Amino acid sequence: MGEFVVRGGRRLDGTVRINGAKNAVLPIMAASLLTDGPVVLRDVPQIRDVAVMTDVLTALGAVVERAGRSLAIDSRGVDRFQVPELLMQEMRASVFVMGPLLGRLGRAAIVQPGGCAIGDRPIDLHLAGFQALGAEVSEDAGGGTLVVSPRLKGAEIHLSFPSVGATENLMMAAVMADGETRIRNAAMEPEVVDLAQFLEQMGARIRGAGTPEIRISGCARLAGADHTVIPDRIEGATFALAAAASGGTVRMENCLADHLPGLWEHLRSLGCAIRVDDHDVVEVECPNAYPPRAISIYTGPYPGFATDMQAQFMALLLKVPGVHYISERVFENRLGHAGEFRRLGARITADQRVAIVYGGRGLHPGTVRAQDLRAGAGLVIAALEIPGSTHIVNSAVIERGYENLAGRLSRLGADVTCV
Ligand code: UD1
Repeated sequence: MGEFVVRGGRRLDGTVRINGAKNAVLPIMAASLLTDGPVVLRDVPQIRDVAVMTDVLTALGAVVERAGRSLAIDSRGVDRFQVPELLMQEMRASVFVMGPLLGRLGRAAIVQPGGCAIGDRPIDLHLAGFQALGAEVSEDAGGGTLVVSPRLKGAEIHLSFPSVGATENLMMAAVMADGETRIRNAAMEPEVVDLAQFLEQMGARIRGAGTPEIRISGCARLAGADHTVIPDRIEGATFALAAAASGGTVRMENCLADHLPGLWEHLRSLGCAIRVDDHDVVEVECPNAYPPRAISIYTGPYPGFATDMQAQFMALLLKVPGVHYISERVFENRLGHAGEFRRLGARITADQRVAIVYGGRGLHPGTVRAQDLRAGAGLVIAALEIPGSTHIVNSAVIERGYENLAGRLSRLGADVTCV
C-alpha cells in the first residue's frame, strides 16, 4: 500500500515540468482500438492508471510498447470484446474501451464498476447513449453488461449531466456509426477536446468539441496517428497549490493556465503573484502567511472549478485565516478528506456535499489515510504546511495519477519520502 512521510515546514522553490494528462491519455489509449494503423502517443505519464490501461488493451489483443515517454500501440490483433473483471475493478476508466470496441467489433462486455471512494459513479449515461446509437444493452445478475450492435447509427443524444466519460465514450462509438451524431449538453473539458483532436488525426470528422454540442460524422475506417498528450492541468494545480501552502515560488513548465479556470483568481485574491508567459510556463510566487479572507468555491463541470482540485484547495484553505465554504457539485460524496484533515488538527464541518473550513488554526503532524488520488494529494499539501513528520498511508492511490510526486516535490525543496 505504501506510505508517504512528509517532514513539512519547508518552502518550495524551483522549476517543475508538468507531465501529459492522465485524464486525456486514458481515453486516447482506448481510442487506439479503433484503428489497424500504428498509433504513437507522446508525453505519456508513467503512472499506475496508464499501466492498467495498457493491461486492458493487451487483454483485448493489442500490442503496447513503451519507449521512454512514448507509447506505441498496434491494435491489428484486437479480437476480444470482454474486459477482464479484475482490470475493470482496478480502474473505473477501463469503461472507456466500450465505445471503441462497439465501433470496432460490434460488441463490448464489462462487469460494471462498483461504488468507489467518491460515490457510486454509475455508467447509465454511457449505456443510454449506446442505446440511442442503436446498440442493445443487456445486464446479468452478476453485474455483467453486454452491449451489442452489428452497426451503430448516428443519433441525437442529450446528456442529462455533462459527464466527461460519457461524452468521450459516445464520441468514440459515434465516429464509426452510419451518419451524423449530435451530443448535446456534452462535457467541455480540455481532455474531451484532446480526444477529439486525436480522433480527427485518425480521420474522424468532429465539430464542436469544447462546446456543449458535438457533431460527429461517422466513417468506415480510421487510420493510425501520432499525438502528443496535453499537459495535466490537475497536476499543474497540485504543484501550484503545494507552492501556495508552503509559501514558495514555483515555475511550472508545460502548464496551460487557461485550462484551470477559477484557480488563479483565487490565488491572486490571497496575495499570490501569478505570471503566465507565452510558452506554457506559469510561475506562482506565494507569501509565507495569508491575510484573513472568506473564500467560497463551487466545483462544477468545465469551465467550473475542477472537482479534481477541490481536496488540494481545501488543504491550502487550512492555512488561510477565515471561514471558507466549499460546495462539491460534481460528485455526491467527495469530501471524505475533511475527516483526515481533522486528524491533523483542522477544524472543518462537512456533510457529503458541503464543507465549512475554519482556516488559520495551527495543524499538527499525524497519520492519515489517502482515500483516493486527489484526496491523497490534498493530504500531501496539508502535510507540507506542518513542521514535523506526517505519515500518509495508502499512498499507492496517489501514484495512480501522479508520476514520482514525492521525488518531484523533494527536488523543489520539500522533504517527502515514499516508504
Ligand atoms: C472524469 C475524470 C475525473 C473527474 C471527473 C469530473 C477521467 C478518467 N476521470 O471522471 O478525474 O473527477 O471526470 O471532472 O477522465 N454520472 C452518472 N452517470 C454516468 C456518468 C456519470 O450519473 O453514466 C455522474 C457521476 O456519478 C458523477 C458525475 O456524473 O457524479 C460526473 O461524472 P463524470 O463527468 O462522468 O466523471 P468521469 O468521467 O467518471
